[in-house]
Amino acid sequence: MTKQIATIGVVGAGTMGAGIAQVAARAGFDVVLVDQAETWLDRGLATITENLDRQVEKGRLADTARDAILARIEGSIQIPHLSGCELVIEAVTESFATKSDVFREVADVTAPGTIIASNTSSISISALAATVPDPARVAGMHFFNPVPVLTLVEVVRGLQTSDETVATIREVAAKMGKTPVEAKDAPGFVANRILMPMINEAVSCLDEGVATAEDIDTVLRLGAAHPMGPLTLADLIGLDVCLSIMEVLHYDFGDDKYRPAPLLRRMVAAGRLGRKSGRGFLDYAKGG
Ligand SMILES: NC(=O)c1ccc[n+]([C@@H]2O[C@H](COP(=O)([O-])OP(=O)(O)OC[C@H]3O[C@@H](n4cnc5c(N)ncnc54)[C@H](O)[C@@H]3O)[C@@H](O)[C@H]2O)c1
Repeated sequence: MTKQIATIGVVGAGTMGAGIAQVAARAGFDVVLVDQAETWLDRGLATITENLDRQVEKGRLADTARDAILARIEGSIQIPHLSGCELVIEAVTESFATKSDVFREVADVTAPGTIIASNTSSISISALAATVPDPARVAGMHFFNPVPVLTLVEVVRGLQTSDETVATIREVAAKMGKTPVEAKDAPGFVANRILMPMINEAVSCLDEGVATAEDIDTVLRLGAAHPMGPLTLADLIGLDVCLSIMEVLHYDFGDDKYRPAPLLRRMVAAGRLGRKSGRGFLDYAKGG
């Protein structure tokens, strides 16, 4: 059995939240997109408009359809505006403290039984679920970046998650044109447990001078048929996000094979976060 979903709330209008709001509205859901401040919200709404405008320019979307999609998205900086949602997807900063605060606030303002999903890359869904009454309605709904392009959604089942919650999230993901794949609530789920240690090892190769950043990327592109090299991918994901995922893997497994590369820590400390800050392993200010 699944729960009927008409209105989806998205908390966090950053890289992921804006993408999730866009695909949800395009799939016909009404969307309430909430961020903590007008500047972040406006940036997220502007990204959605730019993405849809590009689709119109390329002839992939009628301008009337774009207008209809945008009309289905309501922006807000007030969590109480989520009160009418049947499903709320949290996509705020990767921090347990921040996410659990949002979970509690969402649970306070929504009807009992409202499904609360997290887009977390690595935080335990069972631990997030434990912060709200009725944890059976909590699951992971892990989208991939860029959300409008990549078609995978990892559906993460916490210890407390009900079958109805999992089935509903699978159904919503499919309506959004995504392929849902179920994973247990283990550190990093499937994708990041495999992907992040590879990125981390590429950073160590760079730090040890094994090869240049460009050559490390070329090796994986041409030698392993990856569509982009691991350092370019790390820049796209955000080096702060990569570091926090490695920290969770390291802490949760207690195994030094997941130790974050020292250069990854230095890059984040220096504010070189990748594309979003203009510089990471590659320099985007120069169009690199
Ligand atoms: N970037 C990726 O490639 C990627 C991929 C998959 C999953 N994720 C996960 O998605 C989540 C968001 O990542 P992102 O890259 O979009 O981050 P981001 O930094 O681009 O956006 C986070 C947004 O959350 C907002 N926010 C923070 N605290 C808030 C609060 N209390 N209430 C409302 N809004 C708040 C911020 O203002 C910001 O706009 C993280 O959990 C991350 O691990 C990221």
